[in-house]
Amino acid sequence: MNQRSFVVTIDGPAGSGKSTVAKRIARYLRLPYIDTGAMYRTVAWVALQKLKSLDDTAALVDIANSMGFRFESDAHDFRIFYCYAGSEYKLLGTEIRSPEISMASSYVAQESVLREILVKKQQEIGKMNGGVLEGRDAGTVIFPKAEIKFFLTASAEVRARRRYDELLLRLGVEAPNFEKVLADVKKRDQQDEEREASPMVAAKDAEIIDTSGLDENAVFDKLLDIIKRRGFKPLG
Ligand code: DC
Repeated sequence: MNQRSFVVTIDGPAGSGKSTVAKRIARYLRLPYIDTGAMYRTVAWVALQKLKSLDDTAALVDIANSMGFRFESDAHDFRIFYCYAGSEYKLLGTEIRSPEISMASSYVAQESVLREILVKKQQEIGKMNGGVLEGRDAGTVIFPKAEIKFFLTASAEVRARRRYDELLLRLGVEAPNFEKVLADVKKRDQQDEEREASPMVAAKDAEIIDTSGLDENAVFDKLLDIIKRRGFKPLG
């Protein structure tokens, strides 16, 4: 790791507000933003195209092994590139953000061998220049010695409402109804919390933030306040 870099981890369940605040914190600190969930999503997305079943662990492992990821950002945007089996890097878009891929990624993430492969890649990426890592096990498994750890929570209803509003904006009439989104959020929580391999859990030394009654700015301010109190400054 670049000597002046450091790692901030932001873990928590779907819809807890991780992505929005992780990007803002990364921008503020001038650190790379590393979306570890996007890696599980991309593996699930490629697997759904190539495999007949997501239960073929050896085939999933092959896919994960032959994938590369790059996270880039500029003043306007955060971009994720992936490559598969030696192909050129391609830009990832909203194809990995569908409800189907959300569920499939949580499903494949239960597989410990697959997790080991992605965790290694996440550690390599984070070690280059530090970063703000968003995920489920960033502060417990990927970077247990991260300089600052956050764990965001919110009630399932609040999180489902956020997800629903997001899907409505993106998919319009194609968006699933609220009850379906709530059921999916609860199922995914259960899968992510109850799996044997690195279940989603707050690190003992994580700052736990309940975002239920907070808007984006209030969440950002809370995290920023903690970061500043601990003496961390934007990289110059
Ligand atoms: O953060 P997300 O919703 O994009 O993540 C999609 C799924 O990937 C999530 O349901 C569980 C899995 N995941 C994981 O197991 N570990 C991570 N570090 C990130 C995501």
